[in-house]
Amino acid sequence: MNLSPLQKARYGYEPNLPKILKTNVTKINVKKGEPTESESDRAELKQLFTKTYGMPVVTLSEAENTSADKKINVGVILSGGQAPGGHNVIAGLFDGIKAANPESRLYGFLGGPSGLLEDKKIEITPSYLDDFRNTGGFDIIGSGRTKLETEEQFDISIEVCKKNNINAIVIIGGDDSNTNAAMLAEYFLSKGENIQVIGCPKTIDGDLKNEHIEASFGFDTATKTYSELIGNIQRDANSAKKYWHFIKLMGRSASHISLECALQTQPNITIISEEVAHNKTSLNEIIDQIADVVVKRADNGENFGVVLVPEGLIEFIPEMGELISELNNLLAEKANYYNTLNTFEDQSEFINKHLSKDSSYVFSSLPNSIQRQLLMDRDPHGNVQVSRIETEQLVIEMVESKLHELKSEGEYKGSFAYQHHFFGYEGRCAFPSNFDSDYCYALGYTAFLLIANSLTGYMSSIRNLSKPASEWVAGGIPVTMMMNLEVRHGKSKPVIKKAFVKLDGAPFKEFAAEREKWAIKTSYKYPGAIQYYGPDEICNAPTITLKLEAEKRSKA
Ligand code: FBP
Repeated sequence: MNLSPLQKARYGYEPNLPKILKTNVTKINVKKGEPTESESDRAELKQLFTKTYGMPVVTLSEAENTSADKKINVGVILSGGQAPGGHNVIAGLFDGIKAANPESRLYGFLGGPSGLLEDKKIEITPSYLDDFRNTGGFDIIGSGRTKLETEEQFDISIEVCKKNNINAIVIIGGDDSNTNAAMLAEYFLSKGENIQVIGCPKTIDGDLKNEHIEASFGFDTATKTYSELIGNIQRDANSAKKYWHFIKLMGRSASHISLECALQTQPNITIISEEVAHNKTSLNEIIDQIADVVVKRADNGENFGVVLVPEGLIEFIPEMGELISELNNLLAEKANYYNTLNTFEDQSEFINKHLSKDSSYVFSSLPNSIQRQLLMDRDPHGNVQVSRIETEQLVIEMVESKLHELKSEGEYKGSFAYQHHFFGYEGRCAFPSNFDSDYCYALGYTAFLLIANSLTGYMSSIRNLSKPASEWVAGGIPVTMMMNLEVRHGKSKPVIKKAFVKLDGAPFKEFAAEREKWAIKTSYKYPGAIQYYGPDEICNAPTITLKLEAEKRSKA
């Protein structure tokens, strides 16, 4: 009754799959490669992961697997921020499990990892699942940001799995959740528990990728959704010719989303946080660069434009990064006293007293609204929540005052009216593109096959993604292989290395070669809405980032 026509159509969409996944599950085995090593810190990681370190990369291949049809129970968890395609990971996993043995069961832990700890779950049934196939969102079982990281939590997980006869857990999450999945796998083995753990690479941010994982799911749909909106705004700007639009784009720390959207839409200015950090560009320098473009375009009679601002920018500007890190430490260390301060005036006085001289100066020079946002609650990692800081507003205010200055000096004769936007939540639950629908289903189905081949501590992996789905390569990557040690909260911890935009990578180079032209000469590209039905080049093209990175790899 409440179904849109597209919703109905998408329920019936059959994901395109790599050839191997069309084979009978009892005829799919794994081909094991050579033993692997971690990214770095090998000796330390070998000691931390005595059971799971060094496992080989595996590729699914056709060969008898007589135990694949054994009856099993699997639990699945969605962890962290929503990303389009999560429902299809669960659909693929479910279909794999049921194809092997209709008596096997899939349980969904509710509300993220806390569902496992609190034993809150539902059984996924065919009719329940059918309402979620090929749709966006994580509402099938909900998600959450509880971290599974302590021994106490691991012990509870064992109890819950045993109580429910659960043989394996699939954790669908980002770098932190997959790190924790690997720790859980290691812990289970060290306790002699035969509960397998498999991870799946999720995040719109695109920062969970490496030599072995070509893309995290959700990035494709989210960037296409934002690019549609940016294209629409560009057309509006070019029609009305009266506004500068400042658009903040989600992505937490890394600027992959902004870079991909820039390649898709060719706006006048795109800031890439990694470049700002690399060049140690100050906030004033960023403002001067933007103002310079505004002035040049005004000289050409174009008092409009579009600026993309990555969500995490503020932490990459050297003096702001220093201020935020001092604030994070201060708010963590002095939490007890700080929490007794009720007014913003008291809080900022306390803050200013404890910050270094430089940071106190930077803090005081910020608009009041940004100061308040910088003092808001931290995330579970103790970090400032960048999605809640209106960086685009800060940039606008500063550009405006710079333009006043230039006007008074006679160097700017244009007019500056602006609009601001934040695109983030708009893209996280969009109907997954065909790419994400196919990719996610394949990830879930592969996760089951890794379980059926008795593996644990692996991330489900689908490679060769720039090619049609029939040529994709399915398998598993040992999570320890992607790890290194990083200092978190003053302690050295094993983590999956986060991927930032590489300034010598093909996507950035392509952008850098064009951006000066895009800045001055209006060169907007209009990608339009995601299409689900129609010609291949419109419906099934992967992101430009994925294509350029694959081309670079094939030339290497
Ligand atoms: P994940 O890393 O969990 O995939 O989340 C990504 C993200 O959408 C970021 O881009 C953004 O900064 C953050 O989540 C917002 O978090 P919240 O959903 O808690 O507001």
